[in-house]
Amino acid sequence: MEKYIINGGVPLSGEVVISGAKNAAVAIIPATILAEGPCIIENIPNIKDVSIIIKILSEMGASIKVLTKNSLMIDTAMIKNPIVPYQMARHMRASYYFLGALLGRFNKASVSMPGGCDFGVRPIDQHLKGFKYLGATHTIDKGMIDVRSNKLIGSQFYFDIVTVGATINVMLAAVKAEGTTVIENAAKEPHIVDLANFLNSMGADIMGAGTDVIKIRGVKRLHGTTYSIIPDQIEAGTYMVAAAATRGDILIKNVIPKHLESIILKMRKIGVSIEEFDDSIRVFVSGELLKTSVKTLPHPGFPTDMQPQITTLLCLAKGTSIVTEGVWENRFRYVDELRRMGADIFVDGKVAIIEGIGKLESAPIRAMDLRAGAAMIIAGLSSSGCTEIEDISHVERGYENIEEKLRGLGADIKKQVYVDEKFLSAL
Ligand code: EPZ
Repeated sequence: MEKYIINGGVPLSGEVVISGAKNAAVAIIPATILAEGPCIIENIPNIKDVSIIIKILSEMGASIKVLTKNSLMIDTAMIKNPIVPYQMARHMRASYYFLGALLGRFNKASVSMPGGCDFGVRPIDQHLKGFKYLGATHTIDKGMIDVRSNKLIGSQFYFDIVTVGATINVMLAAVKAEGTTVIENAAKEPHIVDLANFLNSMGADIMGAGTDVIKIRGVKRLHGTTYSIIPDQIEAGTYMVAAAATRGDILIKNVIPKHLESIILKMRKIGVSIEEFDDSIRVFVSGELLKTSVKTLPHPGFPTDMQPQITTLLCLAKGTSIVTEGVWENRFRYVDELRRMGADIFVDGKVAIIEGIGKLESAPIRAMDLRAGAAMIIAGLSSSGCTEIEDISHVERGYENIEEKLRGLGADIKKQVYVDEKFLSAL
């Protein structure tokens, strides 16, 4: 196994280039199943979650040609069997997008229940509700979800909650259904708009993505296309917080500032200076970091995927801050790790009360999940000693070359191989 060793206390400085958005890529790549012809996808982040999706497609029979480090040509014509077994799907949550994409192409799909980060119960009832409105029935047996329909027919329905995954899955299933589908109370995240743009570039007829009503007029066929994925808003936000936590001064390139609005607003409230340009932003700190309150919400609210990072920053601010998790049941598990570094955080259910302590002390810590892992790196970078972070495979699921990018900003971070105690005790 590998861990990060960080000698913190260095203010980050210089430039960093943001990669393509993970959560757009993991939807767009399975969406190629719907195309009758090869798709060239550019700006694909080189991360573990994407490799898993590509591997699933390839094992299903798709032809994948690597064009450059971040672009692929994908031809799914040879996929004959709409099945994604457990061994392939178990590693990541987004494998459920194969349900919508395969259902849209074959009128049936059989996909193992998804894995991914553990934030408590992660139901898929809304995905199944959407499929049902399109005329599909489902069964769940031995962990496999099977959806099928004689013919998908568009209809109008309302999601009971705002869900990114179900909005995307139903878009995938509906794009070739007969007639018009209207999704009400749809999620509005930038990656939903990106998926709609991708599908439209293949000949789909989707309107309203980015608002809470998405209208999809079914088309008979979708053709191949060339498409470039949007920059990752959460990766950008993570570097913004890392710059602030180290009292650095960095230029973050290849971003869409509009996608960062809620993060920019909150960070300015905390006292961080941010200059916005067309496709880059400068983040620096000159004064004191201030307390604030943050509530995570679906887009355009403050993203839940930035919650651990901002909580870590607030440990360094002056005064008492409150962070409320408005999306997931249980996303504060990482707080114990921050406490090991001296943080003063009280958690009651979905609310964390943070007493700013100015500085975190180095300690051995763990990455509990992807974004919590990013927060641990930020904590390590901000403290003045040597921090060791175990279980970093979570971080590599979603951040392209994070060590190299941080080293490019002057951070002292390296990876080291270690033998896990659980492994030793099993010998
Ligand atoms: C996506 O997960 C992201 N993952 C998550 O990012 C992100 O945290 C989340 O959206 C919210 O923004 C991907 O895009 C691959 P949801 P998703 O459906 O689609 C409940 C990261 O770190 N719900 O919007 O699974 C659910 O329990 C990851 O990059 C139902 O009740 O999230 C949650 O409370 C982690 N029934 C809320 O809705 C359902 O059928 C939002 O979930 C579906 C969801």
